Amino acid sequence: RMIKRQMQCRSDLGRLNAPFLAIYESLIPAEEEKAKQKQLLTLLERLVCTEWPKARLYLYGSCANSFGVSKSDIDVCLAIEDMDVNKSEILLRLADIFQSDNLQNVQALTRARVPIVKLMDPVTGLSCDICINNVLAVVNTKLLRDYAHIDARLRQLAFIVKHWAKSRGVNETYQGTLSSYAYVIMCIHFLQQRRPAILPCLQEMETTFSVTVEGVECAFFDQIEKLRDFGSCNNETISQLVWAFFNYWAYRHDYANSVISIRTGNVISKQGKDWTRRVGNDRHLICIEDPFQVSHDLGRVVDKYSIKVLREEFERAADIMQYDPNPCGKLFEPY
Ligand code: GTP
Ligand code: MG
Repeated sequence: RMIKRQMQCRSDLGRLNAPFLAIYESLIPAEEEKAKQKQLLTLLERLVCTEWPKARLYLYGSCANSFGVSKSDIDVCLAIEDMDVNKSEILLRLADIFQSDNLQNVQALTRARVPIVKLMDPVTGLSCDICINNVLAVVNTKLLRDYAHIDARLRQLAFIVKHWAKSRGVNETYQGTLSSYAYVIMCIHFLQQRRPAILPCLQEMETTFSVTVEGVECAFFDQIEKLRDFGSCNNETISQLVWAFFNYWAYRHDYANSVISIRTGNVISKQGKDWTRRVGNDRHLICIEDPFQVSHDLGRVVDKYSIKVLREEFERAADIMQYDPNPCGKLFEPY
């Protein structure tokens, strides 16, 4: 039965494009949200520069990678060269500065894996996390944004997958499920694997953009305007892709042996990366290679309990996509 399910896609998927596209449209942030983000960034820049005139602020994460849905928090990276002072001191100083300018809920989390200052701006209503010198995150934000501009179906698919993950409670890294960043990488991988391919592998192409960050060389092709027609030989629509995405993670992915890798545009072996057993806290039960920090498994947060939750959710979604006459209702049902 399972084999049959893998091979026979339901025949009436076409009529589901309109409802999926309507959900996608409803999640796109309004222009005025962008303006508010700019406004807050300008304010923060002004405050930061009174203390560190040469510092710069960069947006990263979903507010800059084009995978941000309406009302997302914004992620900001403070780039500062003055490294005589340690990060904790800078964060505490930042918290002071923000507090005295009437920003609210200001909190310095100096002991987090990625130390940040959190704040809420009462004028725009936006919440924001600020980290220091996390340049890799700024570069992977650019990679994701560049992929999004090659084929519109990536942004559609990723919005729907993120919306599904949030609705079903499987976008909670502290509970052992996956980050939004991991889900977007899964979507990119999936579209690289379609035949004909919908996305190329930018890191395997000629280098037109390159930076070295913390000893890691980040190089890829970024002349996206030359790739506008890349996916045009493939006419799959959003409903077919949503169906196939969940079918892939429910019934096709080889969890025991495979790592997905957008860096190579392929599935690679767990053996080759020595990700076959638990190392420290990394259990490697679902393996998603970071495109630049290749020793970094974005699935490392998943444990033996949450892998079950995750796979059951993929199967539930795949079955709804296969059998439910109106899958949009059930797919996003709160858990
Ligand atoms: P939402 O906030 O859910 O809309 O998504 P987001 O795109 O901001 O993703 P998330 O909060 O998961 O991550 C923010 C950014 O942190 C990502 O876009 C990456 O640039 C960066 N990042 C780098 N490595 C990691 C990692 O291992 N986990 C996560 N979560 N983020 C990483
Ligand atoms: Mg974010």
